[in-house]
Amino acid sequence: MTTWNLTGTQKHMLICNGSSCMRKGGEEVTVAIRDEIKNLGLDEAIHTTRTRCNGRCKDACVVIVYPEGTWYKAIDPEIGRKIVNNYLSVEEDLKNYVSYQFQEDGMTRLNKDETHEGILKIEKEKA
Ligand code: FES
Repeated sequence: MTTWNLTGTQKHMLICNGSSCMRKGGEEVTVAIRDEIKNLGLDEAIHTTRTRCNGRCKDACVVIVYPEGTWYKAIDPEIGRKIVNNYLSVEEDLKNYVSYQFQEDGMTRLNKDETHEGILKIEKEKA
């Protein structure tokens, strides 16, 4: 069992390997992201974790980057590499792939015309 020393880690990329994301190339996305991290010598700066389903299957393949809390959707290997390349900020050409991002008042859905709203986790009280 591996126990990494995470000192110096700047980003944590969560790569979904749930069944929907795997059907949409999750394995290839994982390999591409890890390969790009290695090629750029960013192993100490970016830690990756494969996850099970993140509850956004319609966005498959899903990749999440912390600490900024950016949820990417419809990621293919090429876009995965681009996310690594732009790891210090979300570049303009990646903004269409962002479904959610942490903002001052919490997680916020972006690209609302193209991002599925999803099911409310709790029933909100009717005023
Ligand atoms: S399988 Fe990836 S979000 Fe559900």
